[in-house]
Amino acid sequence: MVIRALTVFASSWFYLPILVDTKVGKYVMTKQILICNYKGGVGKTSTAINIADWLENQNHSVMLIDCDPNRSATKLKARGESLGFKILSQQRALSELQKKSYEYLVIDSQARPHSEELSDFADGADLVVLPMAPSIDDLDPTLEAIADLKKLGIDHYRILLSAVPPKPSREGETMRDELLSGGYRVFDSWIRRSAGIPKAALEGCAVRKLTGNYKLPGRDYARLGTEIIQFLEEEQ
Ligand SMILES: Nc1ncnc2c1ncn2[C@@H]1O[C@H](COP(=O)(O)OP(=O)(O)OP(=O)(O)O)[C@@H](O)[C@H]1O
Ligand SMILES: [Mg+2]
Repeated sequence: MVIRALTVFASSWFYLPILVDTKVGKYVMTKQILICNYKGGVGKTSTAINIADWLENQNHSVMLIDCDPNRSATKLKARGESLGFKILSQQRALSELQKKSYEYLVIDSQARPHSEELSDFADGADLVVLPMAPSIDDLDPTLEAIADLKKLGIDHYRILLSAVPPKPSREGETMRDELLSGGYRVFDSWIRRSAGIPKAALEGCAVRKLTGNYKLPGRDYARLGTEIIQFLEEEQ
């Protein structure tokens, strides 16, 4: 028997449930990881794909919910054959969740959600990940999103520095230190700037599947994945 407390609110965003009794009688705690930002092009879809892939590679059941009307994650998967996890629209994900339970739901949000959409999404999330490049252009929209999350009483967020330029640039460190000294929550790990990310997107695979230097950001996502699991375990 599958016991599921699935509630669909008027907004049509969903909130999941807490305990799921699977057919094998094991209790599964479903964790939702929301990837979002008010700014577009900050690495949300890349993060969603590569984190879902890492979780699956660690033998977790995972589904990516593509809430972006552009369907970037769905199209990326269709370009290749190697991504093993399901990527479904919100509507389809709801039906899927009636049939099957997942340990992790990774939610890729649309390019520029409005504040109400952010709050609908974020309310049900166990962790909100805000990717941003270490640039002034990305900073303001990210801090705006965090201010809105704080208004909702949500502090289980982490900023993910993404597309961080390689050494000798210190942009990553500098931005991280500034964010931390401003009291913001930032992942220890970050994602390097690498031609591997667009290449993997083009080939429809996770970046770790590439060869040579292209696959190096796969290590960053592995570090990030470990940090995410640790965060979620501590929150339990
Ligand atoms: N670490 C990185 N290094 C180099 N390029 C990157 C990196 N992360 C993302 N990109 C590239 O930046 C572009 C935007 O990334 P992505 O699609 O993941 O962002 P997004 O926030 O989902 O965008 P949108 O708001 O349009 O949905 C893509 O071309 C992607 O390949
Ligand atoms: Mg996207």
